[in-house]
Amino acid sequence: MNFFKTTLTAAVVVGLGLTACSTDKSNDMDSFVSDLMGKMTLEEKIGQTNLPVGGDFTTGAPMDSPIGELAAAGRMGGTFNLTGEKIYALQRVAVEESRLHIPLLIGMDVIHGYRTVFPIPFGLSASWDTTAVERMARISAVEASAVGINWTFSPMVDITRDPRWGRVAEGNGEDPYLGSKLGAAYIRGYQGDLTRPDEILACVKHFALYGAAEAGRDYNTVDMSRQRMYNEYLAPYKATVDAGVATVMTSFNLVDGIPATANKWLVDDLLRKQWGFTGMVVTDYASINEMTSHGLGEQKENAIRALKAGTDMDMCSDAFIGQLKEAVEKGEVSEELVDRACRKVLEAKYRAGLFDDPYKFSDTTRIAKYTLTPEHRAAAREIAAETFVLLKNEGNVLPLAAKGKIAIVGPLGNNRDNMMGTWSANGVGNECVSVFEGFKNYVGDKAEVVYAKGSNIDAGDRIEQGSQAYGGAMRDPRSEAEMLAEALQTVRGADVIVAAVGETNGMSGEGSSLTNITLPETQRKLLKALLATGKPVVMLNFSGRPTVMDWESENIPAILNVWFPGTEAGNAIADVVFGKVNPSGKLTMSMPRTVGQIPVYYNHMNTGRPNDSGDFHAFSSCYMDVPNSPLYPFGYGLSYTTFSYSDFTLDNDKLTKDGKIAASVKVTNNGSVAGTEIVQFYTRDMAASLARPVKELKYFERISLAPGESKVVTFDITADRLAFYNADGETVVEPGAFKVMAGPNSRDVETLDFTLE
Ligand code: NOJ
Repeated sequence: MNFFKTTLTAAVVVGLGLTACSTDKSNDMDSFVSDLMGKMTLEEKIGQTNLPVGGDFTTGAPMDSPIGELAAAGRMGGTFNLTGEKIYALQRVAVEESRLHIPLLIGMDVIHGYRTVFPIPFGLSASWDTTAVERMARISAVEASAVGINWTFSPMVDITRDPRWGRVAEGNGEDPYLGSKLGAAYIRGYQGDLTRPDEILACVKHFALYGAAEAGRDYNTVDMSRQRMYNEYLAPYKATVDAGVATVMTSFNLVDGIPATANKWLVDDLLRKQWGFTGMVVTDYASINEMTSHGLGEQKENAIRALKAGTDMDMCSDAFIGQLKEAVEKGEVSEELVDRACRKVLEAKYRAGLFDDPYKFSDTTRIAKYTLTPEHRAAAREIAAETFVLLKNEGNVLPLAAKGKIAIVGPLGNNRDNMMGTWSANGVGNECVSVFEGFKNYVGDKAEVVYAKGSNIDAGDRIEQGSQAYGGAMRDPRSEAEMLAEALQTVRGADVIVAAVGETNGMSGEGSSLTNITLPETQRKLLKALLATGKPVVMLNFSGRPTVMDWESENIPAILNVWFPGTEAGNAIADVVFGKVNPSGKLTMSMPRTVGQIPVYYNHMNTGRPNDSGDFHAFSSCYMDVPNSPLYPFGYGLSYTTFSYSDFTLDNDKLTKDGKIAASVKVTNNGSVAGTEIVQFYTRDMAASLARPVKELKYFERISLAPGESKVVTFDITADRLAFYNADGETVVEPGAFKVMAGPNSRDVETLDFTLE
């Protein structure tokens, strides 16, 4: 359908003299946008660069923007985080009441599902399953686009090495290679080729380095060398650019001392010139105004700085709209820069197909048809089960038999609201399946399932307040003693206890940093009391980050990390706990032994005085009190079966610059049930011109094996896979000695040597 022919009156069509072409060829887009811009006043062009918040939920101070008036006056290019019918109404105002009838971008933080909520992104990353992530993103786009959303602020691909940072929950963990693969999968899922009415614009964030906030405190300073940026942090952003992401969001933090939003090197030189990004750049929430707090002076200078740096759209600072007209008129900034920004916004709309049909995403009949459908719920259940990581299973406590009496205890055991995790878009807590419900659904009348809460999440008011602020409060007014007594009464006669413990939704995500990431004391006390009954205890750990679980891993026989699984939480957990699905997830961030070790990550440098022994050795790089290694390493996760690795071979131990070596390993399922294993290959450069990490993930494959079955997995090593950014700022491949490693996680690997000639 062509919007200008079918939706508007003939007078409007004549007035505009424009028709959008339904093909996305860049020539057509250029001339369409040029024609349109030729009709725009300076104010209207600046209007396109303005992105006020819709107001249904915000992450900062709600702006005082009358968005209806702005839309009618052509003084905004879009809005975000608006829900329901308001979206359609606002789009109608822009399209029918504004002088040039330019449709709006309608954004939202749809980061792990819209109404059907999938596991948090960090949980999704633990599946190491790009197909699952793409499917999740596709379903998110289908549901979100039905209500008129045409732009999602996802994926977040910031590398995260500090689990105190609450936004770990939104990312893919600590590895740049895995983060790149998953980042690209999100883009494919959301955008497709941006032709269908259920394909929406993606926005990769937060450019750049936001995950490296000092001490894990949100919005804090970031400072790092160029070589670290290039070699360890930038790859996932680049991968999404290569995958065709339509928009990029700048980050709140400093990069080289300059806020990312005003950093010309970052946005203009690196993103646009070096990487060839041709899409639109939006600031993060009020980040132009935040430059004043960073110490960069007043709004006007900062609006100019942001525009000059290459940002196109101002989210919630009212700075472009408030300052740029005067700045242009006074000659403080050139109109060409305003034109560039406006053009990028219009091009994003063009790519989304909004000029063909501004209501392309507002076919309200699709809402009922495509929202929270049984198929979407089934996908959420299946995908959630893939994300759980079995950390411990002593004595094969798991899987449980669906018989006897099963006691679920813990503050998260019969709770729907806290199954979704952070930023759950339009998810409805009450539509989630709790653990208690999921277990009852699963066992039917084959077993008795009972529940007691047992404890509050935490005893501290501060965490409770924080949880409340971020929508996850659940304090029970009863005393600790009362709750514990009830729990101990409930577990009487039970064959097994399943303890559902961890964090609330609000304890991870934006603004939810913690210094203490152990299980809160109230819950540890509960676990101790449950263990003291002598019954087998299975711990389900809900969390948006790695948890310090030194005591738990020492004492609890079985631990399943379930993150925040989403709408189908209880059903998916039951599928895994009762063995219908064999767990296959693997950690994407190292689990520290103690907070004092942070940052602890697998791809660290060796130092000149390495200490891998786990013991204290004087004058080596180690702590006196704990080993350097994490409690559970990156890539770790168990299964109900066991896999053995054998016959690790290289077909050659010399690699030429244009050649390849095949590194192969045989993986066998030695158990009696089918299982899925994530086979991992790492390399290490032994003779480079600068220090390189002790291991870098270079390849992985998810393979499913029947009992007794074997498969050979091959990683083709080519020279380009060994490239890195050197001290002179060049990407180089340096000859010399290398190691290649294969194994089930980053710790338990076998190693072979080869040389690059
Ligand atoms: C601030 C967050 O940092 C960003 O991730 C989000 O997309 C925006 N707010 C919009 O909600």
